Amino acid sequence: MEISGKTAIVTGAASGIGLGIATALAEAGANVAMADIQKDAVEQAAHRLSGTNKQVLPVRIDVTQEQSVIDALAEAERRFGKLHIACNNAGVPMHGTRLVDVSLADWAFVMGVNVWGVIHGIRHFVPAILKHGEAGHIVNTASVAATQNRRGTNQGPYSMSKYAVLSLSEALEHELEGTNVGVTVLCPGPIATNIARGASNRPDHLGGPQVRPTDEAVLAERLARTGIDPKLVGERVVDAIRNKTFYAFVSAVPVDTIKARHRRLEAALETSWTTSY
Ligand code: NAI
Repeated sequence: MEISGKTAIVTGAASGIGLGIATALAEAGANVAMADIQKDAVEQAAHRLSGTNKQVLPVRIDVTQEQSVIDALAEAERRFGKLHIACNNAGVPMHGTRLVDVSLADWAFVMGVNVWGVIHGIRHFVPAILKHGEAGHIVNTASVAATQNRRGTNQGPYSMSKYAVLSLSEALEHELEGTNVGVTVLCPGPIATNIARGASNRPDHLGGPQVRPTDEAVLAERLARTGIDPKLVGERVVDAIRNKTFYAFVSAVPVDTIKARHRRLEAALETSWTTSY
């Protein structure tokens, strides 16, 4: 679809990949509602972008709260009119803890942002796009972690949340067949962002802001060493929207691990216990 003149909402837009997506969409001529839980940070980011004559609006959102998603959408529509593009991108990390040791608050935190955030986006942004009949697009940020569990990182809950985002995206694509609304599942490898500090926005009812210096340092070091510029991810998203691409991989991908996982699945399907339908 053509992006220029259209309206987009991007969650998690104060930092990292969300900021990269918002920047690339604004450069492609879209009006962009930049939505984030960090009000000051998103206002500053929007201020920097609007200084380059881009049409951007900072909006406070907590994607774990349905009413907050409804309010942010209403604010974006009040300012820019019809919504065409929604990027469900806000996410938090969860790594360095074995599954048996992950607390219920940790589970609720990672599922709340990474999974419920996307569910709320689907429930409210998708109808807003469909209601006017013009072309539209949904981008859900998963990860390469949606296609394999990385050994030795203890990021099972994070990976599970991203498998869920991939599954939601596949189901959404099926449901939107026959409409002019496309779906992309964004699967980045390492990107140089602030995600290692993601638990610092943890809400009070889930234990409040948390800092785990060792785990954060390990992840931050890995991303700083191997991660690419989030701006490139934004450009990948713009390309995927223009070309209606479902899978959008970007940065380094553990190709052999992903293929090995799929070969194992295929081999399991060859057993005499199965028939095809
Ligand atoms: P980041 O930490 O730089 O940006 C995430 C943004 O989401 C922050 O501005 C934060 O304030 C916001 N946010 C957190 N909780 C929120 C909530 N409840 N409501 C609204 N906004 C909230 O991290 P990054 O890396 O840019 O992450 C963006 C997405 O990319 C996430 O879904 C992450 O899982 C995914 N991702 C990141 C990769 C990486 O290597 N950095 C690789 C693959 C996927």
